[in-house]
Order: sequence, then structure tokens, then C-alpha cells
Amino acid sequence: MTNEKKLNILYKEEEIQAAIHKLAEKLNDIYANEEIYLICVLKGSVMFTVDLAKRLTMPVKMEFIRLSSYGSGTKSSGNINSVNISLSDLNNKNVIIVEDIIDTGHTAKFLIDYLKSNYSVKSLKFCSLLDKKSRRELDINADYYCFDIDDKFIVGYGLDLDEQYRNLPYIGYIED
Ligand code: IMP
Ligand code: MG
Repeated sequence: MTNEKKLNILYKEEEIQAAIHKLAEKLNDIYANEEIYLICVLKGSVMFTVDLAKRLTMPVKMEFIRLSSYGSGTKSSGNINSVNISLSDLNNKNVIIVEDIIDTGHTAKFLIDYLKSNYSVKSLKFCSLLDKKSRRELDINADYYCFDIDDKFIVGYGLDLDEQYRNLPYIGYIED
């Protein structure tokens, strides 16, 4: 099968890795010697979470959560339509939610509210590879992020369009 759509590269593999390296150094400073729990939000943040985790030097535990606000196509519905959660006991833990992108903000709000209402965490931060601020519908922001992006539909490095392109090592956008 061939991809007929034209993909423009926005961030090359090297640029993504450099940004993750910088973020990891920051987290290594902030959480030096403290144990942290990374919550990888499947499927989109799988690449980001593993690459970030590999560069962290404090004790790290990894958890995975699956939810989605997307049916198909290129616009976020804002509704969380499926949840599959099986997390360790996060009471009194330092928790960092790791997302691929913060768009309308509904997913971030859902996750933060969910964790706060189910656990008495020691600390809770939201970390996103990409931040699409112009599309925000809620007053919510990432505590840490790597790239600010314009209102374009992004694919690659974990992000998909109808399940395609997740495996690309770079981030691109599809030309209309
Ligand atoms: P939000 O709830 O609108 O903030 O959307 C968050 C989720 O929508 C992300 O975790 C992604 O899975 C998906 N999403 C938002 N924008 C894009 C995009 O440009 N490309 C691929 N997925 C996206
Ligand atoms: Mg996602």
C-alpha cells in the first residue's frame, strides 16, 4: 500500500531527540533522587515516553493508559470516548502524565481529574511533546513541553491519521 498524501517534515528525528534530551536534563534536575511514575498515554505518546524514559537518571516506573478523543480524521472531538485504565497504586507518588500533543485540552483535563480523584498523589505534572495552543478550549496547559505548533494536523513519531504514520521517526504534517 502506498501513501498518496504528501507529508511535509516539521521536526527531523535529530531535532526531536535534541528536544527530548533537553527536557530529560530538566526533569533529572527537578526530580533528582526522587522516584517518578511516567504515565504513557497510548497509543500516541509511546515513542516520546520511551525515548524520554531512556534519558532519565532517577528511579523511573512506567505505567500505560489508553483513552481517546478521536473518531477518525483530523479534528479532535473533545469527547473522551473510551478508557482502559489499569494503573498501580499512585498514592503519595510523583506522577508525570506523558502525552504526544495537547490540542483542545479535554484529554489533559480528563486525565488530571481522573488521577486527582482516584489517588492522593505527591505531585502531578503534565508533559507533552507538542503543544497546539491555538486550538485550546479549556484553560489548561502543559507543565513541560518540547514544541509549540500551529494548527496543522501532525503525524509521525507516535501520532497517527487513522492509525497510519505512527512509526515514522520524524514529525510531519499532511498537505491539504
Ligand atoms: P485534545 O483532547 O483535543 O487535547 O487532544 C488530545 C489528543 O488528540 C492527543 O492525545 C492526540 O491523540 C489527538 N490529536 C490532537 N491533535 C492531533 C494531531 O495533530 N495529530 C494527531 N493526533 C492529534
Ligand atoms: Mg493521544
